[in-house]
Amino acid sequence: MALIALSIFVWIAFLDTGWGSKPAAYHSLCRLEERTADCKGKRLSSVSQDLPPGTMELFLDANVIQTLKNASLVRYQVLQSLSLCENGLELIEPGAFLGTRSLSSLSLANNALSVNYSATAAALGTLPALRKLDLSGNLLNEAMMATLIQDLSSLESLSLAWNSIMRLDDSHLQNLPRLQHLDLQHNYIFEIETGAFDGLRWLQQLNLAYNYIPCMVEFDLTQLRMLNVSNNQIEWFLAAENDAAFELETLDLSYNQLLFFPLLPKQNKLRTLLLMHNQLNFYNNIFNDSEGTVQLLFLDGNITNITTLDLWAENHHSNLSSLQFLDMSWNQLWYLPERFFEGMSSLAHLNLNHNCLETLQIQESDLLSTLVDLDLSYNQLQDLQMNLDHRSSLANLRTLSLSTNRLRGLPAKIFTHTTKITTLDLSKNPIKLCASNAAGGSSCIDISNAGSIRNLFLSGCDLEILDTHIFQGTSIAHLDLSDNPRSLLDGLGPLKDVAQSLQVLCLRNTGLSAARTNMDFSAFQKLVNLDLSENSLATFPESLAGLELQILDLRRNRLHALPQHAMQKLGKSLHEIYLSQNPYDCCQLGWWDALHDSDTVRILDWNQVTCNFSSKFIRVANLPESVIQNCKWLTADMTLLHLVLVLPTCLALLVAFVIIFLTFRQRILQMVKSRYRRSSPY
Ligand SMILES: *[C@@H]1O[C@H](CO)[C@@H](O)[C@H](O)[C@H]1NC(C)=O
Ligand SMILES: *[C@@H]1O[C@H](CO)[C@@H](O)[C@H](O)[C@H]1NC(C)=O
Ligand SMILES: *[C@@H]1O[C@H](CO)[C@@H](O)[C@H](O)[C@H]1NC(C)=O
Ligand SMILES: *[C@@H]1O[C@H](CO)[C@@H](O)[C@H](O)[C@H]1NC(C)=O
Ligand SMILES: *[C@@H]1O[C@H](CO)[C@@H](O)[C@H](O)[C@H]1NC(C)=O
Ligand SMILES: *[C@@H]1O[C@H](CO)[C@@H](O)[C@H](O)[C@H]1NC(C)=O
Ligand SMILES: *[C@@H]1O[C@H](CO)[C@@H](O)[C@H](O)[C@H]1NC(C)=O
Ligand SMILES: *[C@@H]1O[C@H](CO)[C@@H](O)[C@H](O)[C@H]1NC(C)=O
Repeated sequence: MALIALSIFVWIAFLDTGWGSKPAAYHSLCRLEERTADCKGKRLSSVSQDLPPGTMELFLDANVIQTLKNASLVRYQVLQSLSLCENGLELIEPGAFLGTRSLSSLSLANNALSVNYSATAAALGTLPALRKLDLSGNLLNEAMMATLIQDLSSLESLSLAWNSIMRLDDSHLQNLPRLQHLDLQHNYIFEIETGAFDGLRWLQQLNLAYNYIPCMVEFDLTQLRMLNVSNNQIEWFLAAENDAAFELETLDLSYNQLLFFPLLPKQNKLRTLLLMHNQLNFYNNIFNDSEGTVQLLFLDGNITNITTLDLWAENHHSNLSSLQFLDMSWNQLWYLPERFFEGMSSLAHLNLNHNCLETLQIQESDLLSTLVDLDLSYNQLQDLQMNLDHRSSLANLRTLSLSTNRLRGLPAKIFTHTTKITTLDLSKNPIKLCASNAAGGSSCIDISNAGSIRNLFLSGCDLEILDTHIFQGTSIAHLDLSDNPRSLLDGLGPLKDVAQSLQVLCLRNTGLSAARTNMDFSAFQKLVNLDLSENSLATFPESLAGLELQILDLRRNRLHALPQHAMQKLGKSLHEIYLSQNPYDCCQLGWWDALHDSDTVRILDWNQVTCNFSSKFIRVANLPESVIQNCKWLTADMTLLHLVLVLPTCLALLVAFVIIFLTFRQRILQMVKSRYRRSSPY
């Protein structure tokens, strides 16, 4: 009995929510799943009234609901999340949310709520449990924004991105005591008055990216964890000069016009500091200390406050002991002050690429033991000095990028410290490599000590002919030697120590040419990606057919044909191949058909592959029929030639024979006759 009662009860409960009676997937327009109804892009002009009343999540995006009418959601009493993006919505009638007291998330992005914002504001004010609101892309200015959010004291997350807000003062963001996330990116904000965010005591994340803010002074939002002011016009960033403990963990000041290193809060928890794409520099080397002060004039209403700041005092920056990620790339740094890294005892990722650094001294042993990635590429470095006395110096370094500098060497014995380094980029530096045990000094780099290296980039270093033992003791998987036109003039010998481990090998423009050198690739059994372009190879290295190559680049060589059987064998593993800029013979294209017809191989430059037909270059992809015919004739020619040569000789012989026969017919006949007679018995 109890069981029956229970099941009836459950049945009634199902009927009540509407999910038991109607199998979910059967609504005529909307897709139903669990307690979610998805009615996106169905040209609806009002909220469907025949969805299950138990719907908790309702998507009505990309419809044509211009007005959300009174009581249109009254049927959906347990609705928690409603999305009405991209509807051209102009008005939410004040009674629209009647009965939906549990709505906690409302997305109204990309509509036209500026048209009748005061009526809409009244509607929003009836949502007591709203925690998340998206008003982005509604052409709202600051007054409309203030009206719309005036009664939303329960909000925790608010997006006002992509609107027309120009300035903020303390009247605009009132009565939002619980707000934690505020997104104001992509507006036109050029002025933020002091106290504008004072009411937001729980604010943790503030995004002001893509606005027109010219400076940030007296920054004092101590509770903020993330501040994003990237892509503005900021020239100054000055935190309030006090000893308050800031919670700030992430500060994004990238893509601005900062001239000075920002004045950060003294006590902070900064982990990530992004300063790339500014105009940062230090000026102490230019100006004398005494001249390094500036006077800032703060105008706050009728109060004028003059503060003197020692902006160029380089070493008194704040406590950055939690900083892990510092990006100062794309600035104008031409030196870093002495002891700049002092106290950065957690820094793991340091990015200084695209600056004007000529020398770099890192003395701080703290920093050198925590660094994992160091990127110094695209500078003018001639000299890199590191204090490697400490045993743990560079012990955690994994990636070192020094590409495009003027380095001739590296700090002596650097590789005895970098036991975890996997990637080293020395490309585009005038370095020299020397084999182990060679007396080189610090003017040449001995890679053979760096046993942990897996990726080594040496392109464009103008290397001499490589010594045969240059890579001894390493197990490099990815090697780029391209644009060193002398490096392999003596053949592949220098690569024999890494032949077993190489997977990706770039030998573009390295002076290889099969006629002169030994081109045996059969030891490179793990190779999957090989670049042999720009090497004037006249014959295809047949040993490649024994590998399982996936990518092969043969551009800009002197190949006349490729061996068809080798290409067929290679085609089993090959995914991608580059073939253009070779003088292939138009009449020997059997290999092309083999490759082109393969389902697995893609000829990435198929449209540029040309062949030579009596010194005219023709695209192989649409070879004219006449050329094909001519090629057939050319091959047929040989038989013809033989015929032409042999036929006259035969004819001449025949004619000669006939003449001889005719001239000497009488005599021959007589001879035959006489013989016949003599032997015939009568
Ligand atoms: C909508 O409801 C509000 C109050 O709930 C009422 O003042 C208003 O007149 C209604 N509008 C329409 C068009 O019914
Ligand atoms: C705004 O909405 C109110 C109430 O629905 C209406 O009376 C008024 O005409 C609307 N104004 C505009 C400009 O649409
Ligand atoms: C800051 O905002 C911009 C724009 O939305 C975004 O691209 C960037 O990743 C953000 N920065 C951080 C640190 O999240
Ligand atoms: C810096 O000060 C020294 C004297 O202390 C002076 O000779 C020099 O000219 C000053 N340099 C600049 C750039 O003002
Ligand atoms: C500044 O203006 C306020 C009123 O706005 C006034 O009460 C105050 O006396 C003014 N102070 C000065 C220093 O002029
Ligand atoms: C001027 O600024 C300083 C430092 O920011 C502050 O201590 C002082 O109270 C300010 N004075 C006025 C009048 O606002
Ligand atoms: C910096 O802050 C850390 C804690 O965040 C503290 O342990 C350290 O002593 C501080 N260093 C200085 C120089 O104030
Ligand atoms: C093209 O073919 C002709 C013979 O048909 C040959 O003389 C010429 O050298 C070839 N051109 C090139 C670039 O190989």
